[in-house]
Amino acid sequence: MKLPETIVWTGKSIRLLDQTLLPGAVKYRECATLEEAAEAIRSLRVRGAPAIGVMAAYTLALAIRRDNPQSAAAFFDSMRRNVEAIDATRPTAHNLAWALRQCAAVAKRTGSDDPGTLSRAVIDEADRIAAEDRELCRRIGAAGSPLVPDGAGVLTHCNAGALATAGMGTALAPLYMAWEEGRRFHVYADETRPLWQGARLTAWELSQSGIPVSVLCDGAAASLIASGRIDLVIVGADRITASGDVANKIGTYGVALAAERHDVPFYVAAPRSTFDLSLSDGSSIPIEQRPPGEVTAPLGTPLAPAGVEGWNPAFDVTPASLVTRFITDAGVIAPPFYETIGTLFGGEATGGGEREGGNRPG
Ligand code: MRU
Repeated sequence: MKLPETIVWTGKSIRLLDQTLLPGAVKYRECATLEEAAEAIRSLRVRGAPAIGVMAAYTLALAIRRDNPQSAAAFFDSMRRNVEAIDATRPTAHNLAWALRQCAAVAKRTGSDDPGTLSRAVIDEADRIAAEDRELCRRIGAAGSPLVPDGAGVLTHCNAGALATAGMGTALAPLYMAWEEGRRFHVYADETRPLWQGARLTAWELSQSGIPVSVLCDGAAASLIASGRIDLVIVGADRITASGDVANKIGTYGVALAAERHDVPFYVAAPRSTFDLSLSDGSSIPIEQRPPGEVTAPLGTPLAPAGVEGWNPAFDVTPASLVTRFITDAGVIAPPFYETIGTLFGGEATGGGEREGGNRPG
């Protein structure tokens, strides 16, 4: 299965697949400065929590390289300023702050006074995060694939596929694996207004892979679930709290409510880097507010009457009580999530097996 490569470090710049042009054009864009890379993150040329994490790490490497610090003090000053600037690009995806923290910690751990050694450590860590992400996606795929039965109808929201990661995706990874294992199913992709990640990106990458996919209006998801044609819902996540509350693309919460009402399992697939255990519940997740014009003038075409305001939160929070299982790189976990998430970070991996105790078994 040939999946698109989202981010490539060239040694002096970042080449990224410009997702704002998909599906019309498959074009790579070069970012050679902090400003260009930050613009690419803000404008969703590169997007999806794990991909944003990888991009943040390479952006830090790029920015420090451009600053060309001549002492350890200058290096750490450059790192602090650049971490702050990159961190401010998109607030909700936990992977972004996580990746920046990883890079900073690794540089400190070298104990070196040599700015060249310190800069090298950041680049190496960015490479490591990208390689690790590929592996984590594969593990999520292996853990989640048994949850996708032959003949299933599968609903997803937004894009949590290869385009959203450095690998084969999070929510779409179990689907890619199940397909490779020979099971056949049909995917329904919510169009995902206002930026159409489902219609443009999920539909594109699935159809490129030969997996049948239909696009539906976001507002049609509940009645599709009610119709009995959906056997499971699977989505990604931008941030998951210690309690299991999930920030994901706006509209996810409504899908989760409909799934619960009709007894359809609602799965959330994410690597452990998306879990933010410093937050006890979803009320303190920062929700990105995007320009109102994305709603009132979709894709740049004015639609709402002039002067009417738009309300445009990019994410919503689905309470843990609506989540059937989390599919992680360390296996599938069930409620009670305070306990099972705690165990996940206590070093006890489940190795792809499922734990007992769920309220709505899939
Ligand atoms: O605004 P986006 O396109 O970055 O939002 C992406 C999502 O909401 C994804 O579902 C989430 O980041 C998980 S990606 C594996």
